[in-house]
Amino acid sequence: MSREPRGPVSRRRFLALTGAAGLTLLTGCPGPAPSSPGPPAPAGLRLRAAPMRVDLAGRAVPTWGYGTVPGPEIRLRAGDTLRVRLANELPEGTTVHWHGLAPPNRMDGVPGITQDPVAPGAGFDYEFRTPVPGSFMYHAHVGMQLDRGLYGPLIVEPRTEELAYDREHTLMLDDWRDGLDGHTGHADPAEAPADDAAGTVSFGGRSYPLLLVNGRPPEDAAVVEVRRGDRLRLRVMNVAADTGFRFAIAGHRLTVTHTDGMAVEPVTVDALRLGMGERYDVLVDADRPDGGVWQIAVQPEGRSGWGRALLRYTGSDASRAPAVAERPAELAGRLAEYGDLLAREPLDLPAGPPDRQYDLVLSGTEIGGQSYPDADPLPVAEGERVRFTMRNTSAKWHPMHLHGHHFQVLTAGGRGPVKDTVAVPARGGEVTFDFLATNPGRWLFHCHNHHHMEDGMVRVVEYGPAS
Ligand code: C2O
Ligand code: CU
Repeated sequence: MSREPRGPVSRRRFLALTGAAGLTLLTGCPGPAPSSPGPPAPAGLRLRAAPMRVDLAGRAVPTWGYGTVPGPEIRLRAGDTLRVRLANELPEGTTVHWHGLAPPNRMDGVPGITQDPVAPGAGFDYEFRTPVPGSFMYHAHVGMQLDRGLYGPLIVEPRTEELAYDREHTLMLDDWRDGLDGHTGHADPAEAPADDAAGTVSFGGRSYPLLLVNGRPPEDAAVVEVRRGDRLRLRVMNVAADTGFRFAIAGHRLTVTHTDGMAVEPVTVDALRLGMGERYDVLVDADRPDGGVWQIAVQPEGRSGWGRALLRYTGSDASRAPAVAERPAELAGRLAEYGDLLAREPLDLPAGPPDRQYDLVLSGTEIGGQSYPDADPLPVAEGERVRFTMRNTSAKWHPMHLHGHHFQVLTAGGRGPVKDTVAVPARGGEVTFDFLATNPGRWLFHCHNHHHMEDGMVRVVEYGPAS
């Protein structure tokens, strides 16, 4: 999932992006002319959801996916129309949700709310404009399907890129259990003996023996290739069901430019923390004079386990690769906090107090004292400026995601980041955000811990008429 921006897309690269995966062009078009400045026109992509096997360090593990894990990258330019035909070859119904995008409601991919699940053997055409650039994800939105391999990156490039960088790479962080029942895998090689006793990374009776970066376990790590002097753009995405991550790169700092696809004033840090559903874009200067191979560290928050990728300077000796479990000091360095992030383009919120406000306590499996499906909708009216204040009285961390809208987090410093997913700390953590009700329909607001979501941490924001 690497690409070099601004260059022509070669036919070979084009085939690499679209072939061998669940994504094929319906038109059978051979791809753009070699002089094309951008990726293939996003007309007529096909996404095939089907049982498959994923190779986890030499072990072929059964799962469900879109041809590869992660699924194929979907890349368009701001203002393009996304057209994807979902073909469901799974034994049960499925949908695709475009996480972070704000499509018309009927394209949002939420079963029972915006569409019927697509039956086995059937298909569905998703089609909508994507005016807002950013780093997004797509994933299945039926039950725990996301806990399998049914996810992939969705990049909307701006019409004019204002960041300067030499190459880019997307890293999708995932916790993995599918097909590994009974597996005594070591989530953390350094703690293997302890882990054997503790039984891996667990939550609510489920365990996640592996942490994957781009579908690869730490023993068979994905490699990000750089040349010395390059400026690298990384799009880091947490698509895990049950795990927050801390992310750092040994020997390198991270300049945060976007969160959830939305630009922030650049801030340079050592580490990121990503709740499930959150994304960060960072710039990394490959400025180590002697090159080398460096650990890209992925450490779960508040539990054991370990994931990684590698940053490799072209020509560096593979024998210089860090040990699988080497933990860079940067993990404990300066962390990007929401309070550090200032929106570059704040939402156009009308002055004065919000038109409507919801104070929502997060406790147990409830949002505001109610647990879905026994929950009232949260009505808003079109055009309103709506404020949600969430207070987390539970002992668990909840990354809260709103469909169909971007919201502005209110931080002490004022214009906090514009996001679509925000983590509310456990035991008294409080987060407030505002959004503009400009996209009518029925929109999920839920915890992106998929177990919590399945347990009822869901409400529906509602205003009509749905588009
Ligand atoms: Cu990625 Cu309803 O969520
Ligand atoms: Cu939660």
